[in-house]
Amino acid sequence: MEVIVLPTPADTAALAADIIERLLTTKPDPVLGLATGSTPGPLYEELTRRNKEAGLSFAHARAFMLDEYVGLPVGHPESYAAVIQREVTDRLDIPAGAVRGPNGAAEDLLAECALYERAILDAGGIDVQIAGIGSNGHIAFNEPGSALTSLTRPKTLNARTRQDNARFFASLDEVPKHVLTQGLGTIGRSGHLLMLASGEGKADAVAKAVEGPLSAACPASIVQLHRHATVLLDEGAASRLTLREYYDDIWANRPAWQPL
Ligand code: PGA
Repeated sequence: MEVIVLPTPADTAALAADIIERLLTTKPDPVLGLATGSTPGPLYEELTRRNKEAGLSFAHARAFMLDEYVGLPVGHPESYAAVIQREVTDRLDIPAGAVRGPNGAAEDLLAECALYERAILDAGGIDVQIAGIGSNGHIAFNEPGSALTSLTRPKTLNARTRQDNARFFASLDEVPKHVLTQGLGTIGRSGHLLMLASGEGKADAVAKAVEGPLSAACPASIVQLHRHATVLLDEGAASRLTLREYYDDIWANRPAWQPL
């Protein structure tokens, strides 16, 4: 696990975009893992800029989403499929059929989850997985108590998550109670996990995930278990870390032979 603290979300977005650009320019069949929420917004903007202005192409890429609400009608503007289409894929040259998320409107949700896991494996696995962290320590929609080896499955949202996400809906009552989400085991299989966080509101969750015990109580602590995880933080999100000086020292003295 590497923890990198940079001054602003724009700086962490630029570094995350460098990692994704390297994947897109070196692998003939790259597979991205896309996250929703506010955190990856600056990263998607930077990728769009590089696509439009610097010729970074996504035409050969495929992508899988982390999660989806259950119970929203297909095409609902706050369904994660619609959000990813609107905020990411419509702005890039990635083929529409190359982006897939778990279908929260499927009749048989358990079968849909099994199919989703199979689709990720059939694609050769996710090369770079983008993720945020919830203020309660969740990653994707793996709420506290999630099994560390879990695969894609339905989950019930925690009250705090519903409250956090109510800003996207007309009222708290409209936030779905159930979701489909990649599991912690699914995320653990990705080749490179990029966990981003910004703002002081995430500082407690980040400190628990990065420096607390590996625990289902803080699902994002699986960054500690991942073979290749990079945690990209702005100053606010990093403000409760105790090993901050060491992280800065590693970053300042990074040898050229050590890739991100
Ligand atoms: P946010 O959500 O980026 O909107 O803060 C992160 C998450 O819940 O994983």
